[in-house]
Amino acid sequence: MRHLLTLDGLSRDALGSLLDAAHALRPDALKRTAHRPLRGLTVANLFFEPSTRTRASFQLAAQRLGADVLTFEADSSSTRKGETLTDTLRNLEAMGASLFVVRHTHSSVPAMLATAAADGSSVVSAGDGRTSHPTQGLLDMLTIRQHKGEDFSRLSVAIVGDIRHSRVARSDIQALRTLGLRDLRLAAPPALLPDTGEVCFAGAQVADSLDAALEGCDVVMMLRLQRERMDEGLVSSLEEYYRDWGLSPERLALAKPDVIVLHPGPMNRGVEIADAVADGPQSVILEQVSNGVAVRMAVLAALAKG
Ligand code: CP
Repeated sequence: MRHLLTLDGLSRDALGSLLDAAHALRPDALKRTAHRPLRGLTVANLFFEPSTRTRASFQLAAQRLGADVLTFEADSSSTRKGETLTDTLRNLEAMGASLFVVRHTHSSVPAMLATAAADGSSVVSAGDGRTSHPTQGLLDMLTIRQHKGEDFSRLSVAIVGDIRHSRVARSDIQALRTLGLRDLRLAAPPALLPDTGEVCFAGAQVADSLDAALEGCDVVMMLRLQRERMDEGLVSSLEEYYRDWGLSPERLALAKPDVIVLHPGPMNRGVEIADAVADGPQSVILEQVSNGVAVRMAVLAALAKG
């Protein structure tokens, strides 16, 4: 694997291998070990959008594998003086960086940098536009697999919230389909549903209500309500949103008793999810975060090997 820009088109074998590698790395993910296969390499974290989980876990993943980590501060960098992203990449390559973790508002940026990168360099998307967040998709699959096993074909999964603008939903759906999921339900206010023609969502059931989506499901994937959508008039009020689309313990009781609840973070507590669910026994939200380090270790190791 030279770059990781999307999960779209990744084979089931390739996806399974990354998940197996991440699973095996879990004991090494949360503490420093002697296993340092990336010693001598430099990972550059290029984040042009805010991040807590993705940035921190890529940094820890790189450090735990023995790499040097260069954390690039976009706001205080020469991109503010007009330097192009390609020139930025080439200058960092000239200092020895060869693995680039890129988050950007524009979907095309990681792919553009991958094209511009030198032969020995790799680019991984850490979230781009609304298109792709491949390592989030991987860590979500690892979390589901740990709780529900490897046969995704018998699962019912509901994705709830601002699906229209969500790169997490797109990467999750690509991975869920590759792993064999058949029963995929989408639940959102009409303004936050994707366009009907978008290929990624073809075949998914659009539920009339959150209750209908939750009925008997095994996995609920909640999405952040992107509050900036309020300014665009796509959501009338946070109170109404919680009333109609918020996940409360009473609503969660409609799902299977062993349902698990995922959320990529950051959460709007009391808007898309109640505290009692976020912190409750069915929540695997912090497991997702721990799995994020292991997944990013597996991805960086695969890219370095590639
Ligand atoms: N899930 C996720 O991408 O979180 P951050 O924006 O904090 O990285």
